Amino acid sequence: MQRRHPEMKGAPPGPVLGIESSCDETAVALLDGAGNILAEALHSQIGEHAPFGGVVPEVAARAHLATLGPLVEAALAKAGIGGDEIAAVAATSGPGLIGGLIVGANFAKGLALAWGKPFLAINHLEAHALTARLPGIVSGGIDFPYLLLLVSGGHCQFVAVEAIGRYRLLGRTLDDAVGEAFDKAAKLLGLSWPGGPALERLAREGNPARIALPRPLLGRPGCDFSFSGLKTALAQEIAAFPPGALPRAAAADLAAGFQKTVTDVLADRADHALTLFAERHPGGTTLVLAGGVAANQAIRAALAAVAEAHGAQLAAPPLRLCTDNAVMVAWAGIERLRCGATSPIDHAPRPRWPLDAPDMALDPTPA
Ligand code: KG4
Ligand code: ZN
Repeated sequence: MQRRHPEMKGAPPGPVLGIESSCDETAVALLDGAGNILAEALHSQIGEHAPFGGVVPEVAARAHLATLGPLVEAALAKAGIGGDEIAAVAATSGPGLIGGLIVGANFAKGLALAWGKPFLAINHLEAHALTARLPGIVSGGIDFPYLLLLVSGGHCQFVAVEAIGRYRLLGRTLDDAVGEAFDKAAKLLGLSWPGGPALERLAREGNPARIALPRPLLGRPGCDFSFSGLKTALAQEIAAFPPGALPRAAAADLAAGFQKTVTDVLADRADHALTLFAERHPGGTTLVLAGGVAANQAIRAALAAVAEAHGAQLAAPPLRLCTDNAVMVAWAGIERLRCGATSPIDHAPRPRWPLDAPDMALDPTPA
């Protein structure tokens, strides 16, 4: 449950420290009250998880614990700011891997208590959802409402972003997240983890039309996704070759076909989502893309075309702000602080925390 401090409402806060530790990225950022980045420090755990072909939760939690302290010190030193000058400490408190969430949130609470500053428990999905409002991303800024497509390793959903704390889920994946589908497809093709970028590179050499793959939910009403059937179809195509003997040209054709199929499905779902969104929010004309899959050039281009066909614009923050980062966590903290909201120090991190959970609202209706 959020606490409200009406006296703080609208006041530009001082610098906010943000901490992100929900998956395999340990990240710290310091932003001034207007959202300008003062300092960043991060440790990517890709090297630690790559030998296992995916994120190992226990390894992730230990790495967050080992690196968070030095990263916070480095960020404060870089910005030349002491704890007494910080307005609040914000940390991702869900959804995500619970070990990492506990490490990051408890670390932030310790700093908040030691410095005598408010703590903000940030929903990781809200942080992705609000990133496009950071100053300098879209000229003139983005006002509410807008449509968000979040496509990452853990999430795949369309959200109508109506206001801070007010999110309407329009569609979501029924099985795998799209980044997860890319990673699984890449693994089947013998590529290294994380598979998305490697698959995109291989796809450039291939012919997307050579192998027909199923297009799950294409043309169906609504804007939910499903990717697990596509992965199974790809596995069957690969199984037609002797084990370990998939020729590079065939692998490239399969990669290109997979990427084209995912792109077509995302474009079709975005077409439906934009229609649904416009019915409810005739004033909203922006489609925001976030999450690691936003790096994919084919997907970006297809979504820009769909947005244009609806008279909307596609806003994709720079990639480093689309993937997991602490700038978005500090920024969500600033947005909440500006509304006069802080979190109780005993707020419990949680592995599941949907954007439309009742406690996301700034003014939750009493039960
Ligand atoms: O947002 P993110 O950094 O972390 C979370 O999962 O929250 O997203 C990582 C995901 C991985 O599944 C990765 O394979 C995928 O984004 N990804 C890509 C590309 N770059 C990263 N997928 C397709 N094409 C890419 N170029
Ligand atoms: Zn994320």
